[in-house]
Parts: sequence; C-alpha cells; structure tokens
Amino acid sequence: MNASTHGALKLGVNIDHVATLRQARYPNLLDTHNCEPDVLTAAIACQNGGADSITIHLRSDRRHIQDADVFRLKEHIHLPLNFEMGNTPEILAIALRLLPREACLVPESRKEITTEGGLDVVGQSSELRDTVMALRGAGIRVSMFIEPEIKQIEASAKLGAEMIELHTGAFANAMGANQTQELERLESAAREAHAFGLQVNAGHGINYSNIALIRDVRPLSDLNIGHSIVSRALFIGMEAAVSEMLALMNPSQPPQE
Ligand code: PXP
Repeated sequence: MNASTHGALKLGVNIDHVATLRQARYPNLLDTHNCEPDVLTAAIACQNGGADSITIHLRSDRRHIQDADVFRLKEHIHLPLNFEMGNTPEILAIALRLLPREACLVPESRKEITTEGGLDVVGQSSELRDTVMALRGAGIRVSMFIEPEIKQIEASAKLGAEMIELHTGAFANAMGANQTQELERLESAAREAHAFGLQVNAGHGINYSNIALIRDVRPLSDLNIGHSIVSRALFIGMEAAVSEMLALMNPSQPPQE
C-alpha cells in the first residue's frame, strides 16, 4: 500500500536543537525572551511550513528546552504539543500543568547527547503505571518511546498507553543488509502494535535520505524529526526545511499551499 491509500504521514518537528544552540550562548538565563535563536519563532516557522505538531523534551538537566519555553509555546502556537518527558515527579507535575496534547515517556540519562535507546517499559512498568494513569486522567494522550520489540509493545499496551513511538536509531545507524533488517524489525513491530490498537509513531535519526525507506513502513502515523530538519534550516530556513521534509514523507500528495 502507498501513502494515498493510507492517509498522509504526519510530521512532528522536534525543536530541542534550536534551544541547544541558544543555550550554547545563554546557558544560565531563566527568561528566554530575546535570546537567539528563539524557539517560539522556530515553532511558528514549523507551523507555517506545514508541520502537524511540535515536539519538545524538557530534560531534568534543562540542557536545551527551559520551563519558560514550554509554557510560551503552549500559549502562542496553534499546533499540538508533544511533550517528551522522563518519568520523574518533577517533570510529571509540569506536564500536568502544561496539558500538552501528548506526552511521550522517554528514558533519560545525564551523559547521553540525545535520547539513546528506548524506554524499558517491561522493566519499569510498576514505576510507569501511576504516571500513565495521571497523564491519561488529565486528558493527555500517552506514548512510549520504545525499541521495536514485541515485549515492549505488549507492556506499553497493558499499561494503557494509546501510542508508541518506535525508536528508529538502529535503522538510521545501519547500512546495507543490516538496514534492511532493521526496517523489517520496524515493520513487524508497527504491525504488532497496530494489532494491539496502538497508534504507531516513529523517530530518531530520520533524515532527508532515509525518509525514502521509512515512509513505506506501515502502519505509521507520525514521524518526530529534529536534528536533520534543524540542520537543514540553517541553510534554507525552517519553513522550507519543514515543507521539504513533508514533501519527501508524502510524495504522492499534492504540495501544501
Ligand atoms: N523522538 C524522540 C522520542 C526523541 O527523543 C528524539 C530526539 O532524540 C527524536 C524523536 C528526534 O530525533 P532526531 O533529532 O534524531 O530527529
């Protein structure tokens, strides 16, 4: 099946790296107004480029996105927010105040440069249960960022998540036959998750080249893409970088006006 028989793939743009660039110059500021590059301006450009949602990760160490950013984005953009979060009481309390459309539970370790590996939902199910219930109770849709493994999918469904986000990092780092193998793992995981009634999203390491392979995985709903879009935006602007990615995601769809 192709995109036209399946509904268009949706794009969530992860703008954490815009904040990474800002923090390189302004590491200690609490008030992020007037600091370049501005994440709200970036989000509005993503919106104008046709993005379907904005993804942000408020890390416990606040290395990129800051508390002020998340509330400013919620107030000023029309697009839904996908709030990536580690499972800590502090960040959960912020999610419950922010009320994003979606929260995606991710693993977090202080040493990693970006989120590495999926969440171990099987091993952490007792710690995750209350968090999922609290988020869902507040009307927030819950996703789990997991490796494409049946046991993690099953555990996510059992805990009451409505969505999973398949970690595409192994696919993005693989080459040749290994990449084909990783693509097959993603495909069979997507089918399994769909059979559990879960919405299937994917993200990490997706770029303007490997999108040609990922876009044919079915069933997939949203792709959350950050680094490649922010990098491309340096040269052609955010709006154009977003619409270029959207055109590659859904090649059979007419370009957006
Ligand atoms: N999805 C999740 C859950 C992430 O944590 C990230 C960032 O690591 C992304 C998507 C975007 O990944 P990338 O920046 O490699 O496109």
